[in-house]
Amino acid sequence: RSPAPFRVRMPVPRVLSPVSSHRDVDVYHQDIRASRVEMLPGVRTEVLGYGGAFVGPTLRVRQGRRVVVRYRNGLDRAVNTHLHGGHVAADSDGYPMDLIEPGRTRYYEYPNGQPGATLWYHDHTHHMEAEHVYRGMHGFYLIEGGDEKRLRLPARDYDVPIMLTDAHFAADGSLVYAPEDTPNRTTLLANGRPQPYFPVSARRYRFRLLNVSNFRTFHLSLDHDMTMVQIASDGGLLPAPVRRESVVLSPGERAEVVVDFGPCKLGDRVVLNDVSGPVLRFDVVAKAADDSRVPDVLRPLPPLPALGSGKTDREITLKVDMVRGAAYINDRVFDPNRVDIRVRRRSTEIWRITNLDTDIALDHNLHLHLVQFRILDRDGAPPLPGESGLKDTVLVPAGASVRIQVTFGDFLGRYLYHCHMLEHSVGGMMAQMEIVP
Ligand code: C2O
Ligand code: CU
Repeated sequence: RSPAPFRVRMPVPRVLSPVSSHRDVDVYHQDIRASRVEMLPGVRTEVLGYGGAFVGPTLRVRQGRRVVVRYRNGLDRAVNTHLHGGHVAADSDGYPMDLIEPGRTRYYEYPNGQPGATLWYHDHTHHMEAEHVYRGMHGFYLIEGGDEKRLRLPARDYDVPIMLTDAHFAADGSLVYAPEDTPNRTTLLANGRPQPYFPVSARRYRFRLLNVSNFRTFHLSLDHDMTMVQIASDGGLLPAPVRRESVVLSPGERAEVVVDFGPCKLGDRVVLNDVSGPVLRFDVVAKAADDSRVPDVLRPLPPLPALGSGKTDREITLKVDMVRGAAYINDRVFDPNRVDIRVRRRSTEIWRITNLDTDIALDHNLHLHLVQFRILDRDGAPPLPGESGLKDTVLVPAGASVRIQVTFGDFLGRYLYHCHMLEHSVGGMMAQMEIVP
């Protein structure tokens, strides 16, 4: 069941307010529960979500200001929460075995010591993360950098998070979780609505695009020859803006783009397309003043070693075994009782990640918890234009090798790295590192 496109308006997830604010910390409450939400026009769909929403409420927090979130589990099963992209202590990272039992609450602490960025939170329950995320357990967590205001990027109503995914709806409107679904059985969703429209004014907007789908990689472009100016990736602002004809987002990745509807006339319609069909239509419905801009310099980053230089410290391989139905990192499935690698805190390492699934032409990606890394090269060639900034998730197409440079911070303990195509991580394509003194 898939309605005609552009029938429903894209909502913007509500912004969560703290329940209390103290000198150095803001406290938030989040309830994880089942509810029935109108995703398709006129039909109620059962979802599992934060605050009962398919896209949970957005936390907008300030760099350098500590946040504590109390999660209450109102479901009949154990769950947890991972802050994707966050530099957080291991006991607040949502380790797959570290769960909140039904009816219980649990406090997680987020120091927000890192630069401003579009992060997101989602469930990470062992073997259940793919289904839980699919059914709605996700939301935005936006850290606003202290230096950002002076850049005068589009802000407030003109700064819009957009969560992209896909879903398979049964005839009665319920969500069918079927990992073997082919992409043509699913409907594209933007902020939890099927191919919606979104009214805009004729001015600049900042869109924070996030792919939460379990498997689909989005290849996004605007029609009418409009371009997107990418200003940020997973870990925040790029050194400089990059004009993009198209933006590729694999599961878990983010791209922030500025789109200027200034030259548009009232009544114009601009469609954001994926290769498989329209995702979202922007309808220009009003004029508006615009004193925002996109400066030529956003946030300088330290230079990287010259292309091809630097010795590789770790080899990471990704491979699925179709016969066994298992997925491997370095020939092993995830085992919570095994530490796969040990790394020293505050060290810098170069990893080479290789996708060995050439024969079946299967893409993967790799997400590291705890850190933001830099991409050095893909098959010896420079990274894509939008990959010059901080990243926590990188696409590794079939047969490709990507080298990344990672610097570990002060936190100690166990953290995961895994393919963010979540059926692959459920299938075993996940491993853990222990950060040691
Ligand atoms: Cu977004 Cu380990 O996950
Ligand atoms: Cu994968």
